[in-house]
Amino acid sequence: METKILVHVNGEAVYVDKGVFLSEITLGEKPCGGNGKCGKCKVIATGKLSPLSETERHLLSSDERENHVRLACMTTVIGECEITDVYRTRDLQIATNTALPDFALAPSFERYGVAVDIGTTTLVAQLYDATGNRLAETARLNPQTLWGADVISRIEAAINGNDYALSASIREAVDDMLLTLSNSAGIEARLIDGVVITGNTAMLYLLVGESVEPLSHAPFEAKRLLHEEIPAAELSLSALSAHTPVYLPPCISAFVGADVVCGLMTLALSPGEAVLFADIGTNGEIALWDGTRLTVCSTAAGPAFEGVGISAGMRGESGAIDKVYIEGDALCVHTINGEKARGLCGSGLIDLLACLLDREILDESGFLEESPYAVADGISLTQKDVRMVQLAKSAIRAGIDTLLCRSGLTENRLTAIAIAGGFSRFMDVQNAVKIGLLPSSSATKATVLGNAALNGAALLLLNRSSRDGARHLSRCAQMADLSNDPTFKDLYMDYMLF
Ligand code: FES
Repeated sequence: METKILVHVNGEAVYVDKGVFLSEITLGEKPCGGNGKCGKCKVIATGKLSPLSETERHLLSSDERENHVRLACMTTVIGECEITDVYRTRDLQIATNTALPDFALAPSFERYGVAVDIGTTTLVAQLYDATGNRLAETARLNPQTLWGADVISRIEAAINGNDYALSASIREAVDDMLLTLSNSAGIEARLIDGVVITGNTAMLYLLVGESVEPLSHAPFEAKRLLHEEIPAAELSLSALSAHTPVYLPPCISAFVGADVVCGLMTLALSPGEAVLFADIGTNGEIALWDGTRLTVCSTAAGPAFEGVGISAGMRGESGAIDKVYIEGDALCVHTINGEKARGLCGSGLIDLLACLLDREILDESGFLEESPYAVADGISLTQKDVRMVQLAKSAIRAGIDTLLCRSGLTENRLTAIAIAGGFSRFMDVQNAVKIGLLPSSSATKATVLGNAALNGAALLLLNRSSRDGARHLSRCAQMADLSNDPTFKDLYMDYMLF
């Protein structure tokens, strides 16, 4: 009997026969019946696969080919491989936060309302009733991942003629999530009479069909800052009645979007308090409330903490090493769902570097004494990986300290530090302090918010008047341009060290 081959589909292990087509494993539509004609059965696949066929060369753009996009009906499994099926409707294990801050219930809808966060990587949506009860929740990968993992590659893909396809894909995904939510709550989707959709500026521009071209070059102007209510039909959300209002919260700038405004809405920014908010992702968005003023900035941290660009890096899926700790003399790892270790996700990477610093296998300059360093069976950390983390953590930390410096504050004056971002929920704050990602007072002052953008969107859904607060926040925020800031440059060099 032939041995089965291990294939990971969206992090889930499945065993298949050699030679099966990816379309037999994935769940996406096959409009041409798998005949290599429509080019719709796209998946992201890496590993041991059949070589790119002529049909794929013809139907896939060079952007897509670079991003490991394949046509599922034209590609067969040769050996171990990994497939990202962005159309797979199985709910992902994505961190959502359960607790909303205290607020007065004054919904922006009469029967049912939905809050959606369009993340660059993941989409999350929640259905509420008018009493504020959460009835259902759903999450999936952002299908735009087919055009690239980060915002910049999506903007480039849009400029290269994929703008309509990018818009259509996000609209279809949101529409489908509305149906999934209503099905799981046992209600008619047409009874949903209010929706709030948040996201970063580029994601919302692609949703509404606004050109992202101005976001691609200096002076990086976002002319349309949203805070708009748009009828569902204009966004092709056919699950809803045509006139259902869809509210898009305000953005602050090209790189500080409505997701940050929503995150900030979940915090108490009172006079006299000094609050730091850091959303750690591919772009680190940082905001500082100094008691009277709000200053925000965005730093290009790179995708290291999302597991991208790290030799054994991966998203926080089954089999990802999410925790590393020392027990006695041994370096121990924990994986998501207890599966065999397949790679390192952001939280595991931070823990690992902290442990290696403790053991003096990694020095202050970032020199790794044993490179590659074996972490688990088949998983190693290289010197280049350490450099990637140094770049990411110094961008975020230098951004934090530059804002503090501009406000004339020291970290001791901060009353609270709020950390947002998908992977932050699993992050060990002490270890993040140890590697220099976060200021040392985070160990006592930091609160990890998880998906703060979604919580903020839910707040704007369940309390209509808080939209005025969001507008006010976005208007009074001052953008700090770090690109030519000498303080930022100096700090950036300093924080390259551990
Ligand atoms: S299903 Fe049409 S190309 Fe694959």
